[in-house]
Amino acid sequence: MHSLDQEKKAAQILSKIAKTDTAIILGTGLGVIEQDISIEKSILYKDIPGFPTSSVESHQGKLIFGKLGDKTVVVMSGRFHLYEGYTPKEITFPIGVFKLMGIKNLFISNAAGGLSPDLKPGCVMLITDHINFTGQNPLVGPNNESFGPRFPDMTMPYSPVLMDKAMKVAKEEGIDLKKGVYIQVTGPSMETAAETRMLRTLGADAVGMSTVMEVIQAVHCGMNVLAISAITNNNDPDNYQPAPLEKVIAMAKVSGPLIAKIFKGVIRRM
Ligand code: HPA
Repeated sequence: MHSLDQEKKAAQILSKIAKTDTAIILGTGLGVIEQDISIEKSILYKDIPGFPTSSVESHQGKLIFGKLGDKTVVVMSGRFHLYEGYTPKEITFPIGVFKLMGIKNLFISNAAGGLSPDLKPGCVMLITDHINFTGQNPLVGPNNESFGPRFPDMTMPYSPVLMDKAMKVAKEEGIDLKKGVYIQVTGPSMETAAETRMLRTLGADAVGMSTVMEVIQAVHCGMNVLAISAITNNNDPDNYQPAPLEKVIAMAKVSGPLIAKIFKGVIRRM
């Protein structure tokens, strides 16, 4: 049985910094919401026991504690991906720590490629369901009964209550929030045209290289999850175009403020 020692140590340190029940994980190019947070304290991942450290040198991973409106939140600035070589357990370690800190609500954003023809670059998509296409799962191995059951239910991984609030906020703010199924691939190579066609046939509306590992762990821990994709490119297998990182980041910057508005509005209504 996994002893949870590291998670407990980390949670003990972090719980002393601030009490909160809401965590936010930000995707590539989607850090804009940090500007709305009045930061009370931040702590580098390297100073938290057991936390993996970010492999991207330009980005010192850190946890930020602060107020979004009048609600205290904790934000992961910098996240971990399978393509960097992290294991699913390393990627989801922070979620276990969050659980022990009393986090009940988890907000996630990511950058994704649109597979549905409706999903144009710059638009935002509420993730209503997902497909784990990585062949990996963070819950493999001895089950941590204190987190959740051996075979966690996945009939509703994304909170209907939070999704409903997100749709309402989007409507009020005049944001055309689409809905769809997200598929996580491992990466780092982008999909071929044939793979793109396959992923669409499998029932996915958008494809990306993050999120599903964290969501599986969060659902196991009984958290309410809300996740939104910034659609940075559209992958049409019959007219397939490269989606270089610069384009992905540039387009994420277009959608970032929309996702920030929705997260803020939902948090205000919680
Ligand atoms: N494929 C995979 N991941 C992505 C994409 C994509 O087209 N766009 C942004 N992240």
